Amino acid sequence: MSQLLLSLFFISLINNSISWRTFMRGRSKYGNLGVPTLSKDQELSSDEWFTQFLDHFNPTDARVWQQRYFVNGEYYKKGGPVFLMISGEAAAGSKWMKEGQWIEYAKQFGALCFQVEHRFYGKSHPTSDLSVKNLMYLSSQQALADLAYFIQLMNSNYKLPKDTKWIAFGGSYAGSLAAWLRSKYPHLIHGAVSASGPLLAEIDFQEYYVVVENALKEYSEECVNTIIKANQQFHIMLRHPIGQQGIAKKFVLCDPIDSGHTKSNDISNLYETIASIFAGIVQYNKDNRNNSAMANLTIESACNILTNETLGIAVDRLAILSTKMLNASGEKCLDYMYSKMIHKLRNVTWASEEAEGGRQWTYQTCTEFGFFQTSTARPNLFSETFPADFFVQQCVDIFGPRYNIHLLNSAINRTNILYGGLDLKVTNVVFVHGSTDPWHVLGITKSPNRQMPAIYINGTAHCANMYPPSKNDPPQLKAARVEIGRLIYQWLHS
Ligand SMILES: *[C@@H]1O[C@H](CO)[C@@H](O)[C@H](O)[C@H]1NC(C)=O
Ligand SMILES: *[C@@H]1O[C@H](CO)[C@@H](O)[C@H](O)[C@H]1NC(C)=O
Ligand SMILES: *[C@@H]1O[C@H](CO)[C@@H](O)[C@H](O)[C@H]1NC(C)=O
Ligand SMILES: *[C@@H]1O[C@H](CO)[C@@H](O)[C@H](O)[C@H]1NC(C)=O
Ligand SMILES: *[C@@H]1O[C@H](CO)[C@@H](O)[C@H](O)[C@H]1NC(C)=O
Ligand SMILES: *[C@@H]1O[C@H](CO)[C@@H](O)[C@H](O)[C@H]1NC(C)=O
Ligand SMILES: *[C@@H]1O[C@H](CO)[C@@H](O)[C@H](O)[C@H]1NC(C)=O
Repeated sequence: MSQLLLSLFFISLINNSISWRTFMRGRSKYGNLGVPTLSKDQELSSDEWFTQFLDHFNPTDARVWQQRYFVNGEYYKKGGPVFLMISGEAAAGSKWMKEGQWIEYAKQFGALCFQVEHRFYGKSHPTSDLSVKNLMYLSSQQALADLAYFIQLMNSNYKLPKDTKWIAFGGSYAGSLAAWLRSKYPHLIHGAVSASGPLLAEIDFQEYYVVVENALKEYSEECVNTIIKANQQFHIMLRHPIGQQGIAKKFVLCDPIDSGHTKSNDISNLYETIASIFAGIVQYNKDNRNNSAMANLTIESACNILTNETLGIAVDRLAILSTKMLNASGEKCLDYMYSKMIHKLRNVTWASEEAEGGRQWTYQTCTEFGFFQTSTARPNLFSETFPADFFVQQCVDIFGPRYNIHLLNSAINRTNILYGGLDLKVTNVVFVHGSTDPWHVLGITKSPNRQMPAIYINGTAHCANMYPPSKNDPPQLKAARVEIGRLIYQWLHS
């Protein structure tokens, strides 16, 4: 996890306190599978807390902890439904209690709105620290059971009529949770809007960079050719001391490259950091997060820099783009040292910066999902230096020797057996994806039957349908929002 990604993650955290941002760009700090952060900062809804069990799967364990949630009753009309926004692999944000497309639906249907923070993220701390023995209570199964208890408790606390219908919302990893919640607890959840949720666990998520490449190619073939050329030049420069110094300077690296000390996993990390610039740009292209620092870093603006020959040779243009990202994220230099990254992720304190979720989400990828965005399928695009092994090694280096490929293989099988992968059978769930978002590859993009409608939006990015509408939204995105509203209406009246 590069420093660059780390910083991007934090910038969005600071600028947009809304978050359920997400990491879904894999293990990274971007919040890659990430969802949303909106703009502005004021507290719109205060923290509420309730008592939750630590281990839902051991009835003899009575330990409890305090879980955070938010509530907004402003739009509730007596007899109306309850909307539950599921927060994923980042802190929950009060901003979403007033903004986002789900609030538009809440106004339309007179819904009572809740948002629940995922255990181990944000301020929801079930244990005293993030040591491996405590992280065993971090799993999607525990998180779903948390939501089941939450629903039961609120039905009682708010004395909701017995036939009150709950509808779940979520984007990215939380989009998967929304679908799984309906699947596992249909007596508690009546329907779900699952945005950009990856349902299939996979170690080597090599398709990710294929979608990234195609999205860039669709805008300009020359853009992709420039990236390939830039990486060839980068590779040649890495072989000689003068070239190494050139890279350190152009890319504003925090540490010099030195054939004596720099290790191969440092170089992998450097290449992966550069690749992740494009991952971030494509995954979040023109969404309506309204994150001013990143808002104009789009496929167009990035490719316009890369293909502008007056800015120098290919590698120089790549360096300019990389530095713009770095500047926008407020970082002074690009930190690519593998050992530093691992050191930070080994920190088990809640106070550590990684407590914003980097260690936790990495744990979930190492024990449940994989989702490693590798260089396997496109070795010529960003180098072949970050295959699945590179990520599995991180699991071992961060959590210990048990967290190896064998554990991961059986963990992935387990996840797909327990949830069904892409063979999920469920009703009243709409699966929404954007064609530009690489995560659609692991989700349901074609309706298998009428009970499981899929909406595949041409040209939109990760979770685009969740953000507040904007006048620049393409017609197919506007139509998707209307269709989702129609489905919710149908579920509520069936
Ligand atoms: C985005 O932010 C700008 C400035 O903060 C504001 O004027 C604009 O209305 C926002 N757009 C949306 C869609 O929220
Ligand atoms: C983004 O916009 C700001 C201000 O409008 C500008 O200074 C910056 O150069 C732009 N970045 C890119 C990548 O176009
Ligand atoms: C290329 O970059 C130069 C220097 O920044 C700029 O003046 C020019 O407008 C750019 N050309 C295009 C086509 O963007
Ligand atoms: C990044 O910021 C530094 C220092 O503020 C500045 O000198 C440099 O030109 C910026 N680079 C880009 C590509 O915007
Ligand atoms: C863990 O992070 C905290 C907070 O950033 C810091 O004070 C502490 O020194 C770190 N621990 C280690 C072992 O690096
Ligand atoms: C995982 O599942 C595959 C096919 O379903 C099987 O071939 C493989 O042996 C399983 N691996 C483990 C570690 O259980
Ligand atoms: C998606 O949009 C692009 C242009 O934005 C268009 O060329 C393409 O035909 C569209 N694909 C479908 C399946 O509608």
